[in-house]
Amino acid sequence: MSVIFRNNTSSIIFIVLVIILISCPPIQTKDDPFRNAKAIGAYDDGTILVEVKDSLRLIYPNGTPHSIPKIHCKKKCHYHLLNPNYVIITYDNNVGMMIDWKGSKILKRFKYDKLSIGEKNDKFLIMRHNEFTEYHIEHGKIVKITNSLHFDKSHKEHKEHKITEIFSLDDAWGITISSEKKKSFFSIIKTESKSKTLTTEELEDFAGPSKCITKNKNNDIQYYCLYRTHTHRLKLVNIKNLSLNDNTFDLTSTDLFQSDISFETKTFIHIMPNVGFLVEATAKLNPKYYIFNIFEIDYFDPNNAFGEWIINNNDNDFIDDNIFILPNNKAIQIRKNGKYVNDLSSKIPENNQYKNTHIKSVPNNVDIGTTTLKITFLNAITSTTTTAANISIYYKNKNSNEIILRQKLLCKKHCTISDDDYSLTIDIPKITFNMPNTTYYVEIDDDFVKYKYDLITIPGIKKENWIINTPDYKYSNEDDKFKLGNLRLNSIGTEEFDKLSDADKDYFSDQMRIELSKNIPVDYSRIKINDKKYEFDMTLGVNLYKFLIQIDPPNEYSDNKKSTKQVFEDLNSLIITSQNLTTNLDYNNYTKNIDKDYGLKEASDTLAELKASLNNFIADRRYKNKKGTNIIVFKVALIIIDLINDIRFIIKLKTISSGLFIPSVLFLLFPFILNVFFAIAIFKFEIQSSINSEWFKNHIKPVAIATILSSGDIELLHIFDSNFGGFKIFSVKFSPKTLNLIFWGGFLNIILENLPQLVIQVQ
Ligand SMILES: *[C@@H]1O[C@H](CO)[C@@H](O)[C@H](O)[C@H]1NC(C)=O
Ligand SMILES: *[C@@H]1O[C@H](CO)[C@@H](O)[C@H](O)[C@H]1NC(C)=O
Ligand SMILES: *[C@@H]1O[C@H](CO)[C@@H](O)[C@H](O)[C@H]1NC(C)=O
Ligand SMILES: *[C@@H]1O[C@H](CO)[C@@H](O)[C@H](O)[C@H]1NC(C)=O
Ligand SMILES: *[C@@H]1O[C@H](CO)[C@@H](O)[C@H](O)[C@H]1NC(C)=O
Repeated sequence: MSVIFRNNTSSIIFIVLVIILISCPPIQTKDDPFRNAKAIGAYDDGTILVEVKDSLRLIYPNGTPHSIPKIHCKKKCHYHLLNPNYVIITYDNNVGMMIDWKGSKILKRFKYDKLSIGEKNDKFLIMRHNEFTEYHIEHGKIVKITNSLHFDKSHKEHKEHKITEIFSLDDAWGITISSEKKKSFFSIIKTESKSKTLTTEELEDFAGPSKCITKNKNNDIQYYCLYRTHTHRLKLVNIKNLSLNDNTFDLTSTDLFQSDISFETKTFIHIMPNVGFLVEATAKLNPKYYIFNIFEIDYFDPNNAFGEWIINNNDNDFIDDNIFILPNNKAIQIRKNGKYVNDLSSKIPENNQYKNTHIKSVPNNVDIGTTTLKITFLNAITSTTTTAANISIYYKNKNSNEIILRQKLLCKKHCTISDDDYSLTIDIPKITFNMPNTTYYVEIDDDFVKYKYDLITIPGIKKENWIINTPDYKYSNEDDKFKLGNLRLNSIGTEEFDKLSDADKDYFSDQMRIELSKNIPVDYSRIKINDKKYEFDMTLGVNLYKFLIQIDPPNEYSDNKKSTKQVFEDLNSLIITSQNLTTNLDYNNYTKNIDKDYGLKEASDTLAELKASLNNFIADRRYKNKKGTNIIVFKVALIIIDLINDIRFIIKLKTISSGLFIPSVLFLLFPFILNVFFAIAIFKFEIQSSINSEWFKNHIKPVAIATILSSGDIELLHIFDSNFGGFKIFSVKFSPKTLNLIFWGGFLNIILENLPQLVIQVQ
């Protein structure tokens, strides 16, 4: 029979139990064959030491059993194992001895007040009066270190001290002390310390039991102790900076449970080498097992949310000191009802990047447009009564590193717990993950779920601990062209916007543009706001401010290479999903009052498009032609479009409300006539001036047409001094008086054109 130890512990244990059955006929005949079998522990080589009916049995890793000759104790023997092949036996009134596997006495009767086996079962420490003696085995021989230690008597508290427990640590001895005033203290000393005077630090609310362990990582030696408090909680203590000169040290402690957990009866604390502690306790009449992986997890970090595996014990096993831990960190429990063996090793909580060990796994990569996120837990969960726990998803801007909220949603509404109680699915809008090759963060508020079988609410995931990346994607958008859309403010937004001065209105729309770009997200340069004006909402019966948004195609420098159509859809979904979920738009003064029901509507206005095209063209030309004179051609076109627009406005008014039709026509006609009057006056004056008379005579026909068209805007006359293309017709030099007239004419136009809208507004 051969078994590979490290790969299959449960079969080993099965073998152990079978062997116990075979080798102990009296046990076999009983109804409960395991009643008297008790595991003591495992040696470093994997040999297991078992106590059966007051005698000792070894089970070698290959399964061979071996009996150790019986030792007679007056009352009851207690066994402890010591590596590599010894057994320490304690009995009667604090008397002990040590034997080897053959049963030979290695250390004869010794008396002690306190005894502690080293955390790695490689040494043991006894205390008698104030004398401390540590034994360990070196090359088959016993080595002994003895020190007389004493407390600083000037410390009042210690006058009546009593040592309650000693700990044999890697390179030090730990001591717990209680004083008459029911206070407890901790003291620690390195075995090679120069001073024999112990210093102490108080242990808050100490009740015991306690265990201590050495953590030696990267040559930074620290000690941890775990103890139960008077309020039946667990406290973890960290000890560091232990001085070799005066035995001073720094001690800090932390509670291990955030919520109300209290243990009813016995609590057992076991050391798990290179892990930390395993705690057995009973709460609500159920045995619980908690594993604290202090080697991996920083329990002192308030941003960490740590969780343990808690057995869901419906077998109602009684808690007893019946767990032992194998050298490979598998924890084995022999159950009283003999059913089986419990392997706890896979339940050791690991440090994970989301710093929440209640959680087993979360996705770190999702596809663009994902609509669900699934969290798997260590233990069965159920929903809490907490209604306000939110899940927030953030996006990280690659250039600015700014972290921007995408969605914030209530778990109560958007989380579903799986049928097996071990996972939670969050449904999120499609728009949340909309960018390729991008980092997102998910943050979850505390108490979003709780344990199904325990009074523990599960802490959330703090900001920037749960990272999600999206895969890369290449967009191809050749022949992409700008796209126009309208969004508008709701009535509150319109009211506030109305109160702003013109300059503030411009500032507002620019800030709105920047905020929208940030939140889509898209490069600022790809979003423009071309126009803002009132729109009458028929169903609401109010005027609302409408903004004409222009989305430009990406260029080679753009971070967001999506097409204008995709960006348009993203912005629309962002606004519309804000109906039901919180987005960053809700937190910003310039975007919070965007009408969410309206969304972003395609602007089907051909004139608006033409205007945008010309604007783009002008903007383009401005860089190419520093003189800027060619702009006049497009300015002319814009003026003509405005004229057509005005006429359309009147026609529209006619169909909506005839009451405003007549005044509007008057307001259009008046500037029309005024402009013609201005133009004629200017030309009459210029013809008389000696410099330009020749030019006017030569270009009488275009001048006449311009005069008619200038009824739209007197500024049109600037076409003639534009120097456009170097043509003579566009090279006239107007006199200062004319320039003045054109300026004031333009000014008058703005006032007159806006009057009808003003009148409509007043009504
Ligand atoms: C204690 O140790 C830490 C490193 O573990 C060190 O940064 C700190 O300065 C030490 N404190 C004292 C008082 O020596
Ligand atoms: C969750 O979000 C809602 C809506 O934004 C808010 O009212 C609530 O206070 C938030 N909850 C917490 C715990 O912040
Ligand atoms: C993805 O992003 C990383 C850094 O943010 C960048 O180095 C990499 O070039 C990007 N990949 C592509 C294909 O753009
Ligand atoms: C918002 O919620 C309402 C009511 O629950 C629902 O009718 C509507 O479709 C939701 N809107 C979006 C964009 O999901
Ligand atoms: C938003 O407006 C409020 C009130 O007008 C003001 O107190 C607040 O500072 C503004 N917030 C930002 C980010 O501008």
